[in-house]
Amino acid sequence: MYVCLCLGVTDHQIRDAIYEGCCSYRQVRENTGVGTQCGKCACEAKKLVRHTIHDV
Ligand code: FES
Repeated sequence: MYVCLCLGVTDHQIRDAIYEGCCSYRQVRENTGVGTQCGKCACEAKKLVRHTIHDV
């Protein structure tokens, strides 16, 4: 599922970024580019990062 339409970032890519070592929304953003264009996905992306980090 696409989380960020501007850059075509999927929930899988966000989870993978965390499994590969990102431990904050900021790092995920720097790694995937999520939320760096219109910013509409930021809220959803942050939520996903929070939940995924919690589960790791
Ligand atoms: Fe992610 Fe626009 S949808 S920056």
